[in-house]
Amino acid sequence: MGYKNIIEKLWETYTTQNPSVQKIYDLFVSHGEEVINDHIAFRTFDDGRINIDALSKVFRENGYIEKGQYNFEKKKLFAKHFEHGEDEKAPRIFISQLLTSEFSVYLQNMVKQSIDKIPEELFGSGGLIYSGNLWGQPSFEIYNKLKEESEYAAWLYVYGFCANHFTVSINHLSNFRNIGEVNTLLKDKGFALNDSGGEIKGTPEQLLEQSSIKAEPVNIDFSEGRKEIPGCYYEFAKRYQGNDGMIFSGFLADSADKIFESTNFYEK
Ligand code: NI
Repeated sequence: MGYKNIIEKLWETYTTQNPSVQKIYDLFVSHGEEVINDHIAFRTFDDGRINIDALSKVFRENGYIEKGQYNFEKKKLFAKHFEHGEDEKAPRIFISQLLTSEFSVYLQNMVKQSIDKIPEELFGSGGLIYSGNLWGQPSFEIYNKLKEESEYAAWLYVYGFCANHFTVSINHLSNFRNIGEVNTLLKDKGFALNDSGGEIKGTPEQLLEQSSIKAEPVNIDFSEGRKEIPGCYYEFAKRYQGNDGMIFSGFLADSADKIFESTNFYEK
């Protein structure tokens, strides 16, 4: 299966589980826009069976090349980004992994027990990336306990393998020239922006500006009953030309650090 089919499958699950994403996409289309993705982001744990190298395999086999590495010291994450070698409109792929050895034995055991439940034939398979939660019905108690240490781990424990977010490329929009105009449109329509570190992360001088909506609350059937927790979010990015005349294609660790918080738990 080529990368386009994989992205289609990811988009289907993403928009079904997060109706606000579809609404925003439709909003751009109603303004006559063709929506091009700047990047798609994934989360995983650093276990060799499912880590960045394992998850990126399907993309690397389909024309993607590793382009950058990022460290997030406070959140204890490591990430890589990949770009397609030929197709300029192909989204960048951004995959991060939680450095589990820097957390409690409880968290490490919970992660290992979860991964042990994944059917072995899925390891190294192209389908792993969109297979969701493969370790069974989540427990709200475990979710909350993981959340005390890492919002990222708690989110991943519930949702498993899926697109954490897609990102609209503002460079490819024709009627919205800057990120402020996009943010105004979203706020006018009632969407809440992630304002951790300000609504706009990064500056034109840093060659990348990003914003995102807060993940919308989704109903999850935990073993203790149905609860609402944050799902996925939608991101918006504008890139600028550097002194070398090239559009900046990487990521800013400080900005991404704040964007990760779009899935933090919040009361409505
Ligand atoms: Ni992103």
